[in-house]
Amino acid sequence: MGIDLGTTNSLAAVYSDSGEILLVKNHNDEVLTPSVVSLTDNNELLVGRGAKSRLVLAPDRSAAAFKRAIGTTKEFKLGRTGYSAIDLSALVLQELQELIKAQFDAPIESLVITVPAYFNSIQREQTLAAADLAGLSVSRLINEPTAAALAYGLQDRDAESTFVVLDLGGGTFDVSILEMFDGVMEVRASSGDAFLGGEDFTLAIALHIAEEHDLRFQKLKALEQEKILSAAEQIKQSLSSQADATASLEIGKSTFDITITRAQFEDVCGDLTARLRSTDRTLLV
Ligand SMILES: Nc1ncnc2c1ncn2[C@@H]1O[C@H](COP(=O)(O)OP(=O)(O)OP(=O)(O)O)[C@@H](O)[C@H]1O
Ligand SMILES: [Mg+2]
Repeated sequence: MGIDLGTTNSLAAVYSDSGEILLVKNHNDEVLTPSVVSLTDNNELLVGRGAKSRLVLAPDRSAAAFKRAIGTTKEFKLGRTGYSAIDLSALVLQELQELIKAQFDAPIESLVITVPAYFNSIQREQTLAAADLAGLSVSRLINEPTAAALAYGLQDRDAESTFVVLDLGGGTFDVSILEMFDGVMEVRASSGDAFLGGEDFTLAIALHIAEEHDLRFQKLKALEQEKILSAAEQIKQSLSSQADATASLEIGKSTFDITITRAQFEDVCGDLTARLRSTDRTLLV
């Protein structure tokens, strides 16, 4: 079994004896589970999409992006209770473990968890501590870019090769240079921007939508902001496969029909894409 414990989303996969890889689906029939935890008003802990939608609605009872705090002593308050990044990560791992148990009868023989290549030993130890707290015994931690390279079959190339892995996640942009030599994959260098990711693109689109419709985003109610953000997310994802995307939004008594083209998207996110390029350069110099 493999777990990608991401800043924004987490994912579990099971590798069977027959060599098949099965991605584990959550209760929403999705393979990505938002790495978000929220405490409901009845003091129940929610993990995943339900918790994510409470981020804006109940920010003082919800926590996200806690992977960034792994290795620190930062405390996240959900209501009155304090949780460490280890506690919160353990809750995500536990959720994934429950999904696996519900879908597969076979015992899990070994578990690997991915971590950023730049994680130091304390961050790696804390990831293991989270797994331990979730009742999981980890065989190995694997560097994320190495896992990505393996997923693309790069280990099957026979020559020595060097490649760059660009990983634009939800909140972090990681650039790594990998070298394969004698069948061993090694991370030679890593760089990136810990505060640049897909969520910034979503926010840029949301701010653009608000501006186009004469709405002051910061002054809107949390629920309205959440609506614009989710329309922006939907538009962004559609633009990955379409030249333009539409969404309909209800704010107060008004309905807004939004259309965004790829050219507009590129314009709105120009500063962000420029930052992706500059990260690249610092590493390669
Ligand atoms: N089809 C798509 N087109 C564009 N963006 C997408 C698409 N699908 C997902 N995303 C974006 O990808 C981001 C999440 O990426 P991912 O799941 O790799 O993050 P993560 O691994 O949790 O984050 P990190 O690498 O920062 O730890 C979100 O911002 C989401 O909006
Ligand atoms: Mg990731």
